[in-house]
Amino acid sequence: MNLEDKIQFYLSEEAYAIVQSVGKLSSNLDKPVYLVGGAVRDILLGRQSVDLDFVTEGSGIKLAETVCQELGGELTTHDRFGTAVWTPPADLFSETVDFITARTEIYPSPASLPQVTPSSIQDDLFRRDFAINAMAVRLDQPHFGQLLDPYKGTLDLDQKKIQILHDQSFDDDPTRMFRAARYAGRLGFELTQATRSALQQSRPNLAHLSADRVRHELEKLLGERFPTPMLELLQQWQVFESLPANLTLTDLQRIALTRLDGCLSIDPGRTAAQNSSIEELRLAIWLLHTQLLDTSAVDVADELNCTADFKRDLERVLNVIQQGLKMDDFRPGTVEKLLRGFTATQLLLLQAHQATPAALKVQIPTYFNTWRLIKTTADGNTLRQIGVRPGPIYQKILDQLLADKLNGEFESDAAESERLTQLIDQLGPQNKKDAS
Ligand code: CTP
Repeated sequence: MNLEDKIQFYLSEEAYAIVQSVGKLSSNLDKPVYLVGGAVRDILLGRQSVDLDFVTEGSGIKLAETVCQELGGELTTHDRFGTAVWTPPADLFSETVDFITARTEIYPSPASLPQVTPSSIQDDLFRRDFAINAMAVRLDQPHFGQLLDPYKGTLDLDQKKIQILHDQSFDDDPTRMFRAARYAGRLGFELTQATRSALQQSRPNLAHLSADRVRHELEKLLGERFPTPMLELLQQWQVFESLPANLTLTDLQRIALTRLDGCLSIDPGRTAAQNSSIEELRLAIWLLHTQLLDTSAVDVADELNCTADFKRDLERVLNVIQQGLKMDDFRPGTVEKLLRGFTATQLLLLQAHQATPAALKVQIPTYFNTWRLIKTTADGNTLRQIGVRPGPIYQKILDQLLADKLNGEFESDAAESERLTQLIDQLGPQNKKDAS
């Protein structure tokens, strides 16, 4: 089968230009080169693909260097694996591109790093996760566009099947279980019976995965458009209970994930989505509903080796919910004081949390868009000029003044000024320099 037309149709203009250049430059080196993996699968499915992975039967590093010399950009090489990652100039292509020396892989023990040996394209395809990802399109001349499908990936695409290429596939790399869930969910495919059994057999190997690898896979999954069905599959396959982290998937968590998505289109969600990645936000809301209102969310985040910033977000949100649950005054001034200093991400998580009091939840968008930005006319300098002795009393007076302003108690600057005088008299007469 020749896919020349389909490649041109389904790749972006920029990606197609790179594919053509790589083919031409590899022809000059007299080495076969192939587009492999997800891009081939997506082209055959008639889906847009942005991911470019090239495999050559020559040196992947040499080819990458040639491409980089010709087209510019930057290169990172990994001699041990014979691979290079090329970052093209920004005006050429916005994604990084992988160059790989065709290789076989031997895994000394489950979930370990493989020992690699240069080899043929057939062997390189055989080391891959699933038949649907083990196809290649040749790009050097005069073979441009020829499909190589030694493991019948096209048949699996037709039958909507996900199947591994050999029985040890999940032992070699247990992260493939997450990948299987992603492809099944994304494409609406099913695992073959043999693949399901191999996955079950290999489940104990999940315990060998490092926290970083588990988190990375979860983040990739949570970055998908509709991650919940993928999480359901992982649960169905009992993946969570085999992991070295106490992950669960309850109705509370499913609903929270949906609620989070609903909160993303209005502020503070919109701003949070610009500051944090969708996968981080989803992971946070998922963990926050591990047990309603206890610190197990932070424990799981620890088990997943999440960053200190991420854990601080969870802690702050849980903390403010606890405070909110004890409050009966939700006037703007009180809400402003409670939420002061919260980031858009923390506010979004608070808004999407099941336990946040409804009276607080409804105020969050207004707090973010309005109250947060309102200032009192007076500040520390004003108090100093009036002669109030500097100290904690400054904060007390200005906080109360701001709360009164937010609660709509002044109709004019003069009224605000009058209230300031009152507050100084009430809260800090002994602190006035001329009072002694
Ligand atoms: N691969 C694999 N086993 C893994 C990771 C990757 O066999 N654990 C192979 C697959 O052939 C895959 C290719 O490497 O197609 C590229 O990996 P990646 O970019 O992660 O996957 P894509 O197929 O491009 O998937 P996606 O569409 O989700 O990016």
